[in-house]
Amino acid sequence: MIDQNTVQKIFDAANILEVVSEFVTLKRRGTNYFGLCPFHDEKTGSFSVSPARGIYKCFGCGKGGNAVNFIMEHERMSYVEALRYLAAKYGIPVEERELSEEQKRERGERESMIIVSAFAREFFTRQLHDTDEGRGVALGYLRHRRIPLEMIDKFNIGYCPSERDAFTRAALDKGYKKEYLVKTGLSIENERGVYDRFRERVIFPVQDIAGKVIAFGGRTMSSDKKVPKYVNSPESEIYHKGRTLYGIYQAKKSIVQKDRCILVEGYTDVISFHARGIENVVASSGTALTVEQARLIRRLTSRVTIIYDGDPAGIKASIRGIDLLLEEGLNARVVLLPEGEDPDSFARGHTPAQLAEYVAAEETDFITFKTRLLMKDAGDDPVERARVINDIVRSIARIPDNITRSVYVRETSMLMDVEERVIYTEVNKIRRQGAASRASVVTTTTAAAPVVPLSPCDVEERALVRYLLLFGTLELDRESGAATVGEFIIRELEEDDLTLLGPLYNAIREEYRRQLSSPAFIPSRHFLAYPDERVNTLAADILSEPYELSKLWSRQENFVESEEMKLVDFLPKVINNYKMRRLEMMILDVNNRILELQNDGNNGEEIVEWIKRKQMLDDLRGRLSQELGRTGVK
Ligand code: UTP
Ligand code: MN
Repeated sequence: MIDQNTVQKIFDAANILEVVSEFVTLKRRGTNYFGLCPFHDEKTGSFSVSPARGIYKCFGCGKGGNAVNFIMEHERMSYVEALRYLAAKYGIPVEERELSEEQKRERGERESMIIVSAFAREFFTRQLHDTDEGRGVALGYLRHRRIPLEMIDKFNIGYCPSERDAFTRAALDKGYKKEYLVKTGLSIENERGVYDRFRERVIFPVQDIAGKVIAFGGRTMSSDKKVPKYVNSPESEIYHKGRTLYGIYQAKKSIVQKDRCILVEGYTDVISFHARGIENVVASSGTALTVEQARLIRRLTSRVTIIYDGDPAGIKASIRGIDLLLEEGLNARVVLLPEGEDPDSFARGHTPAQLAEYVAAEETDFITFKTRLLMKDAGDDPVERARVINDIVRSIARIPDNITRSVYVRETSMLMDVEERVIYTEVNKIRRQGAASRASVVTTTTAAAPVVPLSPCDVEERALVRYLLLFGTLELDRESGAATVGEFIIRELEEDDLTLLGPLYNAIREEYRRQLSSPAFIPSRHFLAYPDERVNTLAADILSEPYELSKLWSRQENFVESEEMKLVDFLPKVINNYKMRRLEMMILDVNNRILELQNDGNNGEEIVEWIKRKQMLDDLRGRLSQELGRTGVK
């Protein structure tokens, strides 16, 4: 803990220009400074620093804040870590809270293990470059694998000699305690003494996100099938395999800049990608992905691309791991390599440009990928297809974000040729079960709120309700035919006889209509205090989520700031967009009805009626889509 007084001193001392200049080259223009944004890939300098206001701001990606924010964002540090960093930079003594004896011992132990690991890394790289055995055998092997020298340096690749205890002896000679050699797993102790775990292996040090060496992977150079290909450090106080991603230290900057993380399988895959100039790559090192690894990525980006060997068995096995990414709110894409290639071999066989092109061209959204893959396998077998649909629905149900979920429902409904509504019903069922089972573990007295199912137009309806709550009483120009935003929405819906499909949204709409003429009506206050708890919770939810709309209708991140200003432009779009959705749903229903009738060999008259209806709806859609074209929504 840092005391408040010190925090204040740090804030006062931290000069935004000095702090940023350490990482970004800035040029003065007027009272501000400009440079290339370190948070996204760009060629023109949209990144600005205002010394007068003590802030930075990027007009390209929208990132901005004060000196502490900059360090947190740029160095991926926590608030406290960033404060410590700045305190050190400005020579401000930080008052630390006293540690207990136990905490001191633990910290001492971890520190000792880190120090031993740093020594080991150093020892192994020296062995590789400065000994006959290392240069002859191990460097020869790396050359043969076409790992360039720069990569050997960048990833601190080393070599552990064939002698039984070369490393252990060197470490003990230097005064490192046996206890820590064994605890880190670098040395193994048994009745015959203490010897090296990694002897006669090429060493890949594993670094944490801050660059500290916490473990090692050792690859044999022998092709003997009986020798394990890799030997890895055991789990220890400093190494938790499931929380580690190989290459994260070398990749973090690029992951942030590209706003994407590429996930491959092993050490050599990561290194080959780097050698080809693609640096936003990490590996989960031969294990299934864990929640902690997903969260580690989440700190840097929400977009993940997984690159697979073209081996179908492998793909199916790892699909489960990807569901986990979805559950953590990550957007996952998949690239399939040609049969027989792994990321390493593929990268080596192609130029950097070819590699980047292939990834860009082959990237498929994970749900789409999974749907296609499984649907192809299922063929026409109805039982198999039902199983696949169920499986996909489960994946979708894991996605925490409403909007993303509904986008997927639309997409897969097309791919699987299943009505959206059917998918929604299933997704909602699973989510309710999930919520119920989560609630049953919780023993507090608050009952879980009943889950209200999502309607297929949830996104659009939520947007409309949000407008009502947030901007409902805003006045409109005469020509719009309504006095206020709220009145406009209510009238537009009534004109087309539309009620909202979501029962709670509709409850809000109805209540809003009743209140329209009441002069004291303030929508947000009214619904936040509404007696039905489901309604007031929903209102609170909607009012506290500023970015929902921008995701749907605008790619600009700072859209919300100007939302109110653009309101009048957006209002017709939001309404028409919703009408379009409803129309499409009706058309789908009619189409299905016609198909059913045809299948049943039904008489002509009824079909003719439905076809007429379909034509009318199609007409309507044509007109609406022209309207939307004019208002600028695609
Ligand atoms: P691979 O067998 O694909 O290894 O396993 P690789 O790194 O590509 O090795 P090369 O190309 O044969 O040299 C992928 C990852 O699984 C882990 C390692 O992290 C490896 O990089 N692994 C594999 C092990 O930990 N132990 C093993 O015995 C094999
Ligand atoms: Mn390989």
